[in-house]
Amino acid sequence: MKMKKLGKSNVSISEIIFGTWVMGDDEYWGSANELESIKAIRTAWEGGVTTFDTAYVYGYGKSEKLLGEAIKGLPREEMSIITKLWRTEMAKDLVAPACEGSLKALGLDYIDVYFIHYPSNSGVPIGETMEALMKLKSQGKIKSIGVSNFSLEQLKQARQYGEIDSIQPCYSLVWRFLDGPELEYCRENDIGIVPYSPLAQGILTGKYQCSTTFPKEDGRSQAPLFQQPYFDGALKVTDVLKHYAKKYDKTPAQVAIRWLIQTPGITAPIVGGRSCAQVAENLKAIGWKLSEEDYQAIDKISREFTQMLPSFRNFFDATILSQ
Ligand SMILES: NC(=O)c1ccc[n+]([C@@H]2O[C@H](COP(=O)([O-])OP(=O)(O)OC[C@H]3O[C@@H](n4cnc5c(N)ncnc54)[C@H](OP(=O)(O)O)[C@@H]3O)[C@@H](O)[C@H]2O)c1
Repeated sequence: MKMKKLGKSNVSISEIIFGTWVMGDDEYWGSANELESIKAIRTAWEGGVTTFDTAYVYGYGKSEKLLGEAIKGLPREEMSIITKLWRTEMAKDLVAPACEGSLKALGLDYIDVYFIHYPSNSGVPIGETMEALMKLKSQGKIKSIGVSNFSLEQLKQARQYGEIDSIQPCYSLVWRFLDGPELEYCRENDIGIVPYSPLAQGILTGKYQCSTTFPKEDGRSQAPLFQQPYFDGALKVTDVLKHYAKKYDKTPAQVAIRWLIQTPGITAPIVGGRSCAQVAENLKAIGWKLSEEDYQAIDKISREFTQMLPSFRNFFDATILSQ
């Protein structure tokens, strides 16, 4: 497993980050098996993953607590832990207590990367949140600050108040709203990019057919890419992945993750997994390469699909924003 430097920070992260949202028992994913979740985290660690992503809002502390449980006794200095400040905690007096709550749940005394999960939706000025985060940084409680789900303009505003070392956007072969100015800006300014939902929550693994439906309580039943006609289109991209997977003796999930690892500007994808088997499969995205020709061919098919997508509010909300 290669290690990467995150932006201008001193934080070192593994080329695959393991994401633990599904382990939070929250309303989007439904319940998870605690023992299997801990085993999946340990499988990732044993496979060389040293960076783990969680957030307070993933089960309101449940995912953080489970991650803390799973990493207990492992060498802290060899790992980097990412968690996130939820949007209701962005006012200056709430930031430090929120951070303390996350530290307690994780059983740690510092966080490597503390992300602002979303821009405020209650009018808290970004300068106020950043000032509180910079204080936590000076106290050694957090090592670096990131922003997630921010537009380019919002990222630029946040940077006026302190260093932003990384962004966490949704980005995959079937969701590429980051392409263009934002990706370029991050590359030019040495801002790390750690994209989430790299498998489009399972679509790119090849396990779904166009007839697949999701129960109402599964958050994916509302997510735009799982609605027609987008679902069919995304599955066609997956069909192309199946072709390349066969060529390289890999699985579509491994090719999808590999494509991201090879994408210029991307530091490391945050890959989710519910079981040891999924984690073990996803880890085999490292240690080999797509040829430049195949990388470009996959990229082209992906762009043909993503350029047709309307401007959705986000990956989880099928509301189409006016252009
Ligand atoms: N900053 C943010 O706003 C934000 C938003 C979303 C996610 N994230 C982070 O990014 C991480 C990854 O994103 P994500 O979990 O949304 O999506 P993802 O990584 O694209 O998909 C993960 C899900 O796909 C299925 N899966 C994974 N590997 C598989 C395999 N090899 N074969 C078959 N199915 C497989 C599993 O769900 P099933 O078994 O249920 O199919 C798994 O939970 C999260 O855990 C979280 O840490 C951050």
